[in-house]
Amino acid sequence: MSFVVAIDGPAGAGKGTITKLVGEKLGLVNIDTGATFRCVALNMIQEHIDIQEEDKIEKMLTKINIEMHPDGKIFLNGEEVTHRIRENDVNNFVSPVSVLPVVRNKLLEVQRNIAKGKNVIMEGRDIGTVVFPDADVKIYLDATAEERARRRVLQNQEKGIECSYEEVLEGIKDRDKRDSTREIAPLKKAEDAIYVDSTNLNVEQAAEKIIEIIKQKA
Ligand code: DC
Repeated sequence: MSFVVAIDGPAGAGKGTITKLVGEKLGLVNIDTGATFRCVALNMIQEHIDIQEEDKIEKMLTKINIEMHPDGKIFLNGEEVTHRIRENDVNNFVSPVSVLPVVRNKLLEVQRNIAKGKNVIMEGRDIGTVVFPDADVKIYLDATAEERARRRVLQNQEKGIECSYEEVLEGIKDRDKRDSTREIAPLKKAEDAIYVDSTNLNVEQAAEKIIEIIKQKA
């Protein structure tokens, strides 16, 4: 028997950091499904496969091996790619890759297998709606686009990346639109998910709120 907590929501709502903290506090295995899409995008870059080349993508996906180790390290076909999948070329390519039905179908199987037999907290865009529609707890973590842009600008400043607030806000609004209007597995709150707004909460407060919800349901 496994226990599944699904955390969905838009980019910048704090899913990654908050999920990690909640997982550590409750002893749940933390699974970042965005990383699986990033691995596919990286594999395509490595093999010089274009987004239109469906046959080649399909062939590549029959051989792909994605491993997520308990220490947070991610391996693609035996090579550690934990940091590599966060680089700019992958950032820019992953969104169109994540729309491809052939990729989503394959990753559905990969994500379900990774969680098999474990107690997990899994974050993504369609976990409560598609990957685990029967999840024990479903949370939809949100924040206003303005707050998410403010957080992204701060993160960029810490990394020494120059950007304007307006430019980042526009990017976030574009991505929200693309993620929520795509045909397959669009970003949307599952009917039975609990809505958590992190706009006015720091990481600790949001984690506490989610822990309370999980404890009530468990
Ligand atoms: O959360 P992230 O930025 O690492 O996600 C990378 C991309 O993958 C992003 O464009 C959205 C997509 N994604 C998805 O479509 N479904 C998921 N369950 C997780 C991520």
